[in-house]
Amino acid sequence: MLIKRAADIPSSEITDKKVYLDRRAFMRGAAGTAAAAAVGLLGSRTAEAQRIQAAPHGRLLQNVKPSPLSTTEAKNSWQQITTYNNFLEFGPDKDSPAQYAGMLKPAPWSVAVEGECNKPAVWNLEDILKGQTLEERVYRHRCVEAWSMVIPWVGFPLADFIRKCEPTSNAKFIEFTTLNDPRQMPGVRSTVLRWPYLDALRMDEAMHPLAILAVGLYGEVLPNQNGAPVRLVVPWKYGYKSIKSIVKIRFLATQPLTVWEVAVPDEYGFYANVNPAVDHPRWSQATERRLPEFFMRKTLPFNGYADQVASLYTGMDLKKNF
Ligand code: MTE
Repeated sequence: MLIKRAADIPSSEITDKKVYLDRRAFMRGAAGTAAAAAVGLLGSRTAEAQRIQAAPHGRLLQNVKPSPLSTTEAKNSWQQITTYNNFLEFGPDKDSPAQYAGMLKPAPWSVAVEGECNKPAVWNLEDILKGQTLEERVYRHRCVEAWSMVIPWVGFPLADFIRKCEPTSNAKFIEFTTLNDPRQMPGVRSTVLRWPYLDALRMDEAMHPLAILAVGLYGEVLPNQNGAPVRLVVPWKYGYKSIKSIVKIRFLATQPLTVWEVAVPDEYGFYANVNPAVDHPRWSQATERRLPEFFMRKTLPFNGYADQVASLYTGMDLKKNF
C-alpha cells in the first residue's frame, strides 16, 4: 500500500535498533533476488516446483475441496506469495511481514461478533471451523499499487459464517477489525495508520459467494504474513479490503469509516472495486504487473469477476463511489 506519509517515517522508528540493522542487512541480500524476480528470471520454474522446493512450511489442512469458482490461470509460487506482502502491523516494506510476522501468535485465536445480530458471541476459531467444508479458491489478487498475483487460498464462504451469526434486518454493513497488539506487531507503534486496521463491506457484498474467509494457502495453514489465522478475501476489490488476522466482526446499520478512508480519503474509497477506468490520483489503474512478469497487462473491471459481481452495483456511479 503506498501512502503519502510512509516515506516520512524512518523505518528505525518502527523497530528497535538491532532488528532494524538486521533488516537492512537482510534487505541488501534480498535485493538481488527481487531484481531477478522482477525481470522474470524466476518465472521459468513452475509455481508448483518452487513451492515444493521450499516445503515443508506449515501444517497441511485436511479435506480441502477444489472450487469451481477458481481461476485456471498460473498460480504464483509459495515463495512469491509469502515474501512480498502488505501487512503494515509488521512494518512498511514488502519484506517486513515475512521477517517480523513470526512474532504473531495465531493460536489460540478468538473472533468477537457484535452489533446488529441475534447471536453476538466470542468464537474460538476451531469452533468456527467445526463442520465447515474448506475449499481451495484460486483467485486473482490485485493490489491497488498495480501489481497482481494468483493465489490458491483455502477458505470458506463468508456467507456461511454470517448466517450462523443471524444478522438482524437492521444490519446493512459488516465491519472487520484486525488484532492491535504492539507486543506481537511492532508496526502498530508507528502512526502510519489509525490502528486497529479496520475495513467493511456492504451486507450484499459480504454475502456474495466469491467473498471468503481464508485460513490457508496452497493447502496449508495460512502463514502469519498472509493474515493468520483468518483473513478476508474479496477478489473483485483491491487487496486492501482483504483485512488480515481478524479479531472482531460487527454488524452495523450505517456505513463505517474504514482505516484507509480515515488515512487518505481522496485515494482509497470504501468500495475499492478494481476499476481500470478510475485512476488512482497518483498512478493509472488501467494496467498491472502480474508478478514476477516484467511487462504490464490490462486490468479487468472488477478484476475479471464482473460477470459475477457487477449486478451488485447497478445504478451506482462507480467513479464517485470508488
Ligand atoms: N490487513 C491488515 N490488517 N493490515 C494491512 O496492512 N494490507 C492490505 C490487505 N490486508 C493489510 C491488510 C493490503 S494493502 C493488501 S494488498 C493485502 O492485504 C495484501 O495481502 P497479501 O500480503 O496476503 O498479498
